[in-house]
Amino acid sequence: MSSKDKLDKKNIPSHVAVIMDGNGRWAKERGKKRIFGHKNGVQSVRDVVEAAGEIGISYLTLYAFSTENWNRPKTEVESLMGLLINSIKKEAAKLFKNNVRLLIIGDFTRLSSKVKENLFSLREKTKNNTGLTVVLALSYSSRWEITEAVRLITEKVEEGEIKSSDVTEELIGNSLATSGIPDPELLIRTSGEQRISNYLLWQIAYSELYFTETFWPDFRKENFFKAIYSYQQRHRRFGKTEEQIENKFDISK
Ligand code: FPP
Repeated sequence: MSSKDKLDKKNIPSHVAVIMDGNGRWAKERGKKRIFGHKNGVQSVRDVVEAAGEIGISYLTLYAFSTENWNRPKTEVESLMGLLINSIKKEAAKLFKNNVRLLIIGDFTRLSSKVKENLFSLREKTKNNTGLTVVLALSYSSRWEITEAVRLITEKVEEGEIKSSDVTEELIGNSLATSGIPDPELLIRTSGEQRISNYLLWQIAYSELYFTETFWPDFRKENFFKAIYSYQQRHRRFGKTEEQIENKFDISK
């Protein structure tokens, strides 16, 4: 039986975030260059996007390239960016047909104009789609994002638009690149590493974490459904007691 059939359709997370890790090691195991791993990782991206759409997930955020990844050898960075453009071009029609909307978060100032043109044009084309929203985190890091938010808020204070007492969790959330997107209920990281690596630090405050040994190029639909199934077996309490959760419909408790 596929893990998909075991899923509780009423308990599907609305937002799943993924750290796609292990492409390099997957390639190395096969005696190939790192880019071979990235290329094979694209099929996993297709699979996971499809799987998320199939079970009615609203947001899927993929860590495609971190701020720290700019420090990789120039040839790898260039190959990765090329792969990204090609994948976007190749998949554009299918994404559109499947009612997928594309959003991008990250420091765009560091992206080449070719990458920006392709991404922004697909974002524009898909902006009215109402199915799954795929959020690409590209040239992204959480500390960059939080620093930008602080800059934005302090500018507003300096200009007298708001007072420091107006700074709330809500205002901070709305000043992040993910403004308007619900926090992920589930974060998946592949390849056996158990780190967050500067990813959505603010947004994952209450997220369930799922780590798997599987390298990203081997992470396909069934693996994704398994992760969702694992999430559904957990009991989320948000700092409350078990009794409070059990009595959630009784407001006197
Ligand atoms: C991490 O593996 C993976 C990346 C830095 C890039 C992810 C990119 C893709 C899967 C391809 C393009 C993406 C899209 C959205 C079309 P790693 O290189 O860090 O692996 P390692 O830890 O084994 O070295």
